[in-house]
Amino acid sequence: MSRTPLISGNWKMHLNHLEAIQLCQKLSYELARHRYDQVEVSLHPPFVDLRSCQTVIDVDRLEFKLGAQNCHDQNQGAFTGEVSPTMLAKLDVTYVIVGHSERRALFGETDEIVAAKAAAVAKQGMTPIVCVGETLEDREAGRATNVVTTQLRGSLAKLTRAQFETLVVAYEPVWAIGTGRNASPVDAQDMCARARRVIDEIRPGTGSLVRVQYGGSVKPVNAPELLGQTDIDGALVGGASLDATQFARIVNAAR
Ligand code: 13P
Repeated sequence: MSRTPLISGNWKMHLNHLEAIQLCQKLSYELARHRYDQVEVSLHPPFVDLRSCQTVIDVDRLEFKLGAQNCHDQNQGAFTGEVSPTMLAKLDVTYVIVGHSERRALFGETDEIVAAKAAAVAKQGMTPIVCVGETLEDREAGRATNVVTTQLRGSLAKLTRAQFETLVVAYEPVWAIGTGRNASPVDAQDMCARARRVIDEIRPGTGSLVRVQYGGSVKPVNAPELLGQTDIDGALVGGASLDATQFARIVNAAR
């Protein structure tokens, strides 16, 4: 089963709209030196940068897919400060990260909330990138697999079978995010394979279709080995996605 690798840059709360345009352009320049038709690349800038990035991708005909980092589960309403799935779809957003560990830990997002967001994103024809991952405490207590399994069951509960077929799941161990300490390729492979089996249990026949990314301190130096694992279909990259040269090297490692 061939799954096109997806390398996603999660810019988190970095870069204003002018800096965002610059990074899109620098990145297209870096990637022009490589062939990456076998890899999909998505960029996830802050909400306020989306329109600028959409314009530059469109006008300069860049090969990137536009992504968002979060959204609300309702399409409109009295939800001060929130952004809806329909607003994102209108901006040609293709991928929306939901349930990132920072949203779970800092903004109280439960599996139930993540499930509602994932379903709302998929309903608008976009693809959710559903994030799961254990904390260091979970891992040291030997419950990493259980935690990830529970998160998957809860967070994917509202998706239809057809929506599973295009789904992206990102396994991001919390202890590896922003720490410079990535999961070993063997451990990352084990958990991504496990995630695939759980997905197949939830919706039989879809395990081999869903793309499972690894995230957590992915850098040019560790990308080739991580991306070379059978069940790792791409990377969700934080820090290194803010540097065009580093991100392009990670994209190149996925070919
Ligand atoms: P880092 O690549 O900075 O560890 O961040 C990973 C991440 O959280 C991507 O969503």
